Amino acid sequence: MTGEPWLGLLGSATPLVGAPMAGGATTPALVRAVTAAGGFGFVPAGYRTPDAVAADLADLRATGTPCGVNLFVPGPREIDEETFRRYAREIAVEGEPYGLDLAGAPMVHDDDRWADKIDLLTREPVPVVSFTFGLPDPAALAALRRAGSRVLVTVTSVDEARAARDLGVDGLVAQGTEAGGHSGTHTPRRPAPPTSTLPLARDVAAATGLPVLAAGGVAGPADVRDLLAAGAAAVAVGTLLLRTDESGASRTHRDALADPARTGTVLTRAFTGRPARGLRNAFIDRYEPTAPLGYPELHHLTRGLRAAAAAAGHPDRVHLWAGTGYRHATTGPAATVVDRLTTPL
Ligand SMILES: Cc1cc2nc3c(=O)[nH]c(=O)nc-3n(C[C@H](O)[C@H](O)[C@H](O)COP(=O)(O)O)c2cc1C
Repeated sequence: MTGEPWLGLLGSATPLVGAPMAGGATTPALVRAVTAAGGFGFVPAGYRTPDAVAADLADLRATGTPCGVNLFVPGPREIDEETFRRYAREIAVEGEPYGLDLAGAPMVHDDDRWADKIDLLTREPVPVVSFTFGLPDPAALAALRRAGSRVLVTVTSVDEARAARDLGVDGLVAQGTEAGGHSGTHTPRRPAPPTSTLPLARDVAAATGLPVLAAGGVAGPADVRDLLAAGAAAVAVGTLLLRTDESGASRTHRDALADPARTGTVLTRAFTGRPARGLRNAFIDRYEPTAPLGYPELHHLTRGLRAAAAAAGHPDRVHLWAGTGYRHATTGPAATVVDRLTTPL
């Protein structure tokens, strides 16, 4: 490789990033394995308490593992009580096998303890902080910068990339429509037309001149090579790490990824009220047509259901987040996946 444009941003030996995966999939062990294999891992802070994030950072610091941290930017309220109630009543039958009263669940809007997490990261800085779902406020950006962190923002369009550049970020994560998990769109009500990772990374890099991490749909080493050749400084993978030894993904999720009967991935808001890509299942088929937007209210509404269904081994009520490359997700050590993706570079 020549140029090594990712070095200044991440400092890793290779341009391979372990994407942040909230909800339990990314563990400190997974971050450590990716970094030890020459990549760069991100700790997810979304949905978690600041104490839980601090514990992960202490664990990684103790082993001298540099890492990034990823935060969800809180958004405006998108859903009213009546729409929420209607959806809660509609899906209530799904909770019955687990003794859950979804129809009576409270509507919860929160900011995922934004200020506490920014505070944590200014007290205990990490080399890189990334944001998804929107732009951080200028005060948070300045505080993280003063603490010595580089700041990245996930974008799904060139317009979002320009807005992030104008705010003064250090780099961008260009997330194509193939990506597993939530779309980082800044405007879930008016998402940009779906764009594949390669043209998005190429256009975002050309439009902003910033280093770009390309994320979404990587299935093998050829994708990594193509994305780097198109102008990405580094490539992030999530789904390909989900079945590895160090992943914290549930058994139900892992097994579904390997199930040949699954018919592919779709974008859905039925589980969390925000578009996300996952394996198609019965819950999506039943509720996607009527599911409203409303994050994090729908996330909180279905959280207990998804946890109970995952524990019971019922994949048709679980958010089986997966990118389009999921058939190439393998078991074994995460280092093997990183090696496979980077060895020919
Ligand atoms: C299970 C899962 C959880 C995810 N959680 C997050 C998250 O917390 N923050 C974030 O920015 N992206 C999250 N993502 C998206 C990834 O960061 C990344 O964009 C995506 O995994 C790349 O596409 P791929 O899965 O096809 O490799 C998640 C993806 C998955 C599969």
